Amino acid sequence: MSHKILCVVGARPNFMKIAPIMAEFNSDSTPLTARLVHTGQHYNEAMNHQFFVDLGIPEPDINLEAGSGSHAVQTAEIMKRFEPVLDHEKPAAVLVVGDVNSTIACALVAAKKGIPVIHVEAGLRSFDRTMPEEINRVLTDQISDLLFTTERMAKDNLKREGITEERIHFVGNVMIDTLHNNLSRAIPASQTLAKAGFTGGPYAALTLHRPSNVDSPDALSGLLETITKVCSMIPVAFPLHPRTRSRIDEYGLGALLENPRLLVLPPLGYLQMLGLMKDAKFFLTDSGGIQEETTALGVPCITLRDNTERQITVDEGTNVIAGQDRSKILAAVKDVMETGGKTGNIPEYWDGHASRRIVSILHAWLASKGH
Ligand code: UD1
Repeated sequence: MSHKILCVVGARPNFMKIAPIMAEFNSDSTPLTARLVHTGQHYNEAMNHQFFVDLGIPEPDINLEAGSGSHAVQTAEIMKRFEPVLDHEKPAAVLVVGDVNSTIACALVAAKKGIPVIHVEAGLRSFDRTMPEEINRVLTDQISDLLFTTERMAKDNLKREGITEERIHFVGNVMIDTLHNNLSRAIPASQTLAKAGFTGGPYAALTLHRPSNVDSPDALSGLLETITKVCSMIPVAFPLHPRTRSRIDEYGLGALLENPRLLVLPPLGYLQMLGLMKDAKFFLTDSGGIQEETTALGVPCITLRDNTERQITVDEGTNVIAGQDRSKILAAVKDVMETGGKTGNIPEYWDGHASRRIVSILHAWLASKGH
């Protein structure tokens, strides 16, 4: 019987999730073996290859090179290219992580072929179906055989959607495994910021890439104007996602970046980002991963969305939800500047050992099925 697990990655937030899982599969402690499939959803050096280098992820065994496109085109292209890989590889299971288009595309192909689907980071819900990721989450969970969750509340979300309890395992957060594994190697923020002409002192950091924030001129200009006000209180480092960069150009908003206290940077590698996060006074973001990483690091996070699927970062961590509302964002910034902001606790099982739990449960599960 095959012990081979096909692991899938595609987009930037997948890479830090797969790194510790691949390392665990490659260790001597399990007879399972893994092959890595890269869909090619992200392909830029800065969005892709740099993460493999930083995180020591093995070179993908299979590259699908699906690239960019509309959601339908991208998802369909990945599915078409993934199907023959399954026919050839005949894995015991397909393991997908997170909530990007590559996640649902490969899960769907495997499920239709009767190959077990393992979903890491299952059960997170923003309850906002306008987010492409929410659709990906709900659908991937529905067709998964084994669901690994990062927080206890995720099980309630899954049970409400009819998923039976024996398929759900609370194991903690693989992103935090990666954070633990790399914290001592983080590149100092001073080094990264010097490239943007920064000479030292406290700073905040910002990332923006959600369609709801960057795909409309009103939303994007409103947020950038709010950031101009934040810059009057503290310099802000801003690594720019390619999607955001192209929208700023398209909408003629480049002048809002022309601020000596706004430190515009290219997309950063993992070790640079970790250094930037660790030493920031606070973080403004619409990223899911950064909400979790700031909680793990004890750095205040102001989330520029109306909701979060990572509720534990609000309930127990350092996260505050501010949306696009200027007064809410500025009030949250003032609070951090004056009081140091929200302090939090490290959530249960965010302890650096989630991948080990996953691989050991998966091994026992496959053995129970005769693998
Ligand atoms: C995707 C994920 C999102 C995740 C984000 C992290 C989905 C639905 N969304 O969004 O959950 O938070 O990745 O970055 O899967 N582009 C490049 N180079 C690249 C990749 C993309 O220039 O290497 C540009 C392309 O113009 C592309 C655009 O960025 O059209 C958007 O890329 P895409 O993969 O569609 O979605 P993201 O916005 O990156």
